[in-house]
Amino acid sequence: MNYPFWDVPVSYGVLMAVIAVFHVFVSHFAIGGGLYLVVSEHLARKAGDARRLEFLERLSKFFVLTTLVAGALTGVGIWFIIGLISPTATEALIHNYVWGWATEWTFFVVEIAAAMIYFYGWKTMAPRAHMAVGWIYFVFAWLSLFIINGIVTFMLTPGQWLATGDFWDGFFNPTFWPSLVLRTGVCVMLAGLYALLVVARCEAGGFKERTVRWSAGWGVAGLAVTAVCQYWYWKAIPAAVTAKALQTMPTPIHSMEISVWLAVAIGALLVVFGLLAPRKLGYGAAAALMVLGLAWFGAFEWFRESIRKPYILAGYIYGNGVEVAQADRYKKEGLLAQMAFKTGDDGADLFRHACQSCHMLNGYKALKPAFDGMDRAFIAAIVRATHQLKGNMPPFPGTAAEAEKIAGYLGHHTDKRPLAEIYKLEGVELGRKAYAIRCGVCHVIGAASDKSQSFAGQSADDLNNMLNTAADLGEGMPAYTGDAAERKALVAFLQELGKGGKK
Ligand code: HEC
Ligand code: HEC
Repeated sequence: MNYPFWDVPVSYGVLMAVIAVFHVFVSHFAIGGGLYLVVSEHLARKAGDARRLEFLERLSKFFVLTTLVAGALTGVGIWFIIGLISPTATEALIHNYVWGWATEWTFFVVEIAAAMIYFYGWKTMAPRAHMAVGWIYFVFAWLSLFIINGIVTFMLTPGQWLATGDFWDGFFNPTFWPSLVLRTGVCVMLAGLYALLVVARCEAGGFKERTVRWSAGWGVAGLAVTAVCQYWYWKAIPAAVTAKALQTMPTPIHSMEISVWLAVAIGALLVVFGLLAPRKLGYGAAAALMVLGLAWFGAFEWFRESIRKPYILAGYIYGNGVEVAQADRYKKEGLLAQMAFKTGDDGADLFRHACQSCHMLNGYKALKPAFDGMDRAFIAAIVRATHQLKGNMPPFPGTAAEAEKIAGYLGHHTDKRPLAEIYKLEGVELGRKAYAIRCGVCHVIGAASDKSQSFAGQSADDLNNMLNTAADLGEGMPAYTGDAAERKALVAFLQELGKGGKK
């Protein structure tokens, strides 16, 4: 906790996603585009195809603009943002990979210089020299991916590094190769999609048809490599992580499913408009392909980021910036004692450092709905038990007294009326709501933690007795603190659950 908390009214997750997805899209496209340009240039020169050379020159203009300007700016933007939102993890990444970054930046400088020479050299350079510069561009762009890939995959699967602390163990970690080949496939696919977008504007005719086919071929080839590697990548993640995700983490699993469907859609559009009916490819279809490509990449990156929960560097630093090795000490000594910067409002500071890197009070992953209508004792119990809740959260890194302080802060910002009044519910529906807030955060219906079986055949009295002793049923389970109306409704809902009927 050597850094202050950057308190912005936008969720960290959303901030990161917006800038990172855009950046990875542009940067992968920059690599694939380089390969596309130089390979196509070879073919065009061999065939003496002036029309194609002119097209490639045009393509390279927009290409250089987007990749150099947007790529470089968003790349710096990522450093800016991660330094603000995860200073501890950023520090760890810099310390462990300082030579990795230095190498990457050197490659990037070569890449930029080559891209500019390539673009300005179309008319003035000898063809052989021009193509040589094109190859230099592509090779260095790909090498910078090679380096970044080692660091990004390390964040999810540090492998032996956790034990050895060795640079190469972290770099060539379990997901390094699947991710590198996958990303190379993505580069090739995006290059094809982008060329389609540009060629879609050309007037209909033989040239357009040929170029659409050629570019769609890149799209299909890249997509095929990507699809195979996505499976390989999934398999390379430790089985314990994927098994846990399948059971308790809806976000990465949904992202994965969405990415598969998007890949199917991209493949179908590419085959239909690119290979079967290239004459029909209009700007709309090409733009749709580009949007789908962006969405696919977004879904994949979202998967990668969310399956890493509760960590930001797996096994090393939790999502809220607490180092795993320090967590027990924090729990004993308290979180406040570790903070170098405090605002004077302890409850708010504790909430910021323990929860706010993932949750907002309102907005993305809002906590207000989870605590509206609840009392402080319940909120404090949930704060202490975050590691048991759904969502695979880090353990609360503070003392019981600090959990009370967070509860005080949260209680101050939540609705204190009874649930029935807040949501205008009664009967079983009120019970369903009470269950979702008081029980469902741990006992997810249908998952391994589902307790519906235990309610089967229980009378209202039995269930009331169970609620009376709730705090003794399991470690971390909160005492039942609802009012009489809510209690009656919850019991009715538990009976429904026991019947296995309406869920
Ligand atoms: C590393 C990120 C992270 C941190 C830190 C974190 N949470 Fe969570 N939390 C999650 C995720 C992810 C979920 C699951 C949300 C979902 O399923 O949509 C979740 C779910 C919850 C839920 C269940 C409510 C719901 O809407 O599903 C509560 C309550 C909660 N968190 C409270 C807290 C509190 C209190 C803290 C701080 C002590 C905290 N969390 C810290 C990531 C985090
Ligand atoms: C903070 C997490 C948490 C919350 C919230 C929670 N429980 Fe639990 N519950 C547990 C744990 C942990 C256990 C013990 C381990 C187990 O049986 O899975 C448990 C055990 C139980 C058991 C005992 C099961 C058995 O077969 O012995 C029942 C019944 C139960 N909970 C019902 C509820 C109900 C009803 C609510 C809501 C009023 C609730 N729980 C809220 C964590 C929680």
